Amino acid sequence: MEYFTTTSKPSRRAVDCVVIGIFEKGKLGAGAADIDAASKGEIRRLIKSGDISPQLGRCIVLNGVAGVKANRVAVAGLGKSGDFDVKAFRKAVAAATHVVSQTRTKQMLNCLTLESVADGSPYYLARHTAETVGETLYRFTKMKSGRKKAASPLKKIGLAIAKRGDSGQSMKGAGHGDAIAAGVSLARDLGNLPGNVCTPSFLARTAKKLAQGNGQLTTRVLNEAEMKRLGMHSLLSVTSGTREPAKLIVMQYKGGGSKKPVVLVGKGVTFDAGGISLKPGPGMDEMKFDMCGAAGVIGTMAAISKMKLPINVNVVVPAVENLPGGLATKPGDIVKSMSGQTIEVLNTDAEGRLILCDALTYSRRFKPAAIIDVATLTGACVVALGKHRSALMSNDEDLGAELVSAGNDSTDLVWPMPMGDEYVEQLKSNFADMANIGGPTGGAITAACFLGKFTDGMAWAHLDIAGTAWKSGAKKGATGRPVALLSQLLLARSRSIP
Ligand code: BES
Ligand code: MN
Ligand code: ZN
Repeated sequence: MEYFTTTSKPSRRAVDCVVIGIFEKGKLGAGAADIDAASKGEIRRLIKSGDISPQLGRCIVLNGVAGVKANRVAVAGLGKSGDFDVKAFRKAVAAATHVVSQTRTKQMLNCLTLESVADGSPYYLARHTAETVGETLYRFTKMKSGRKKAASPLKKIGLAIAKRGDSGQSMKGAGHGDAIAAGVSLARDLGNLPGNVCTPSFLARTAKKLAQGNGQLTTRVLNEAEMKRLGMHSLLSVTSGTREPAKLIVMQYKGGGSKKPVVLVGKGVTFDAGGISLKPGPGMDEMKFDMCGAAGVIGTMAAISKMKLPINVNVVVPAVENLPGGLATKPGDIVKSMSGQTIEVLNTDAEGRLILCDALTYSRRFKPAAIIDVATLTGACVVALGKHRSALMSNDEDLGAELVSAGNDSTDLVWPMPMGDEYVEQLKSNFADMANIGGPTGGAITAACFLGKFTDGMAWAHLDIAGTAWKSGAKKGATGRPVALLSQLLLARSRSIP
């Protein structure tokens, strides 16, 4: 998408469509006040007649409004003016984008950026606009045959600003938002692709393609023989029931000179049938989303390399399938991890931690400034937090706080959960150094504690995105979370936010 800024009055700009907003109780937004004056009271008349609604999430397109240069005026409901925060702003922009994209609008001018929004600088309002437009226009049609519905004609988006001096900030925000939107779209595509297409090899190819022609980004892929030599027997135990070869994908982005990297580790189980501890049938298709951690960190890499952030970031993705089979790992089997610690596999469906622990140990070689793993790790996390917030566990207070703020600033929210010795005790095994499950209670936490046994001495955080990475039901599909959260963290760390 292309972006521009303008200080001209909404009524004076000849675009295909201007987007303005109205609040409850008859209060006009800045753009609406201008359009209302230019049209001799048309907006107020329509409010009175009840034909346009101030309700947040509603939007109606008017055509040929007298006195206005634009062909169309989209009037978005903004809700209560006192409640108009970034979340409401995004909801209004989404509603406007949705209806405008169903018209022939190629150029849309967003005047909602003129409103005063809590925590909304010109930079953030432009960025949230670009992210929301990308999210709203996203379609997944790759697997549909026949004639595909034409994509939206929207090509260019204007951002109204109050003064010329805001243009730099605003354009920066639009650029960042557009890059994040591209990362989110990539993550959603990878998540939505079925397990027979998006295999470990497919993820590896995708990561390699991203690095092609990008001087700052390299991708290396380790095969099973190489992983075996490294002693990654925990990871390899997960893949023994399948014919699809496992891959360890290692991406390195160098934008920060000799600084220590942030390492992002993403769970890449391209299909999780549970292994010998087979999952029940209903809803099992959704376990194609069990690589959304991998998609999230690869999508983040795409975003930050597009933004050319001055920071070093490595991505490590253990990619496997978890299927039953004659050679599959059995409950009770004991495996040795790369760290040397032994693990009793009491449940082969707790496979995420078995691949992540070796990826975390592997990542030590990078001497990370911080290491964050991202995984659709536990059903227990969905029970605890629902679909709205990702769970956050960390052994480092500062890193935890950093992620909480990044969540708030990006609207890609997390919630901190505890760890501790009491929970670690639940992982005791009679036969090995630890078991891979911690019993029926506190499942999201004991999973994090398992990973904590492999992150000693590193500033580490774990994000359980089991609830947030995809939606079920009629809107079934990947969300692209937590690309926005991780991008925000890296933007803030690299001091790239004006
Ligand atoms: N990928 C699942 C976690 C999951 C389940 C995410 C449902 C989203 C929805 C993971 O590999 C798994 O199967 N976890 C088990 C762990 C248990 C055996 C300790 C779970 O949560 O049931
Ligand atoms: Mn599982
Ligand atoms: Zn899984």
